[in-house]
Amino acid sequence: MKRAIIFGATGGIGQAIARELAADGWSLYLHYFSQQAQALALSEELMQQYPKQDFMTLKLDFNSDDKTLKRIIDSLLPVNGVVFAHGITDFNFLGSQDLSTIETLIKINLTTPLKIVSLLEPMLLKVDHSRIVFLGSVYGGQASAMESVYSATKGALSSFAQGYGREVASSHLTVNVIAPGAVATKMNAIFSKETLEQVKDEIPAGRLAKPEDVSFWVKNLLAPQSDYLTGQTIYVDGGWLV
Ligand SMILES: NC(=O)c1ccc[n+]([C@@H]2O[C@H](COP(=O)([O-])OP(=O)(O)OC[C@H]3O[C@@H](n4cnc5c(N)ncnc54)[C@H](OP(=O)(O)O)[C@@H]3O)[C@@H](O)[C@H]2O)c1
Repeated sequence: MKRAIIFGATGGIGQAIARELAADGWSLYLHYFSQQAQALALSEELMQQYPKQDFMTLKLDFNSDDKTLKRIIDSLLPVNGVVFAHGITDFNFLGSQDLSTIETLIKINLTTPLKIVSLLEPMLLKVDHSRIVFLGSVYGGQASAMESVYSATKGALSSFAQGYGREVASSHLTVNVIAPGAVATKMNAIFSKETLEQVKDEIPAGRLAKPEDVSFWVKNLLAPQSDYLTGQTIYVDGGWLV
């Protein structure tokens, strides 16, 4: 079986992961939150290119209650790859953030993904070579001012991958984090051109990452040959922060 679910398949990085995995023979669930048209266009594009594989869209708000999560996860066909490429940030001082913003950031980036893993576990343990990949961040390794809550969620994902990876290693389920530096996607559209130029100057590789710089590593972690690599956080940052 080669069927994966990509949470956040409508994002800049998620779309690149979808194209990379489809080219590698995977059938895919393409999850989205608000961008239904984008998800449908992507599934149409992939169906035309790879007619022997299946591409299904799936809507889910990660801010949903447990009952909704359970209903959606229970409705899935078996998958052996799970990629969490969704995520939100809020660029602000902690004291300027609403309490509800803090809660939402943690719920969407951390709590709901861990609940989904728990719900998917029986399915993932049944199949050979199952895989979980989280999109973390360099800020999970070296936290950033103005994004302290976001950084905390990303650091927690790395800790979770380490602990949970040990729990399930003997079942050929690997759990890893791909932690990018700055990637040219709409998540960074909040920053001015000048700020992005300054960031670029700080990156030893001399440029922001392209989504494909990240999706390449996700594809390789999903390969059956990656059975012995688990619990790791791999920083894909052009030599920037870590
Ligand atoms: N871009 C960077 O520089 C960078 C750096 C380090 C780490 N990362 C991490 O890489 C991942 C992908 O980032 P990106 O740049 O591709 O982000 P992006 O382009 O902003 O995409 C965000 C994705 O998250 C989904 N999403 C937003 N709110 C959601 C909710 N309430 N419930 C479920 N899904 C929701 C969006 O769905 P819709 O589009 O359908 O609303 C979209 O698919 C994130 O985890 C991010 O933290 C990014």
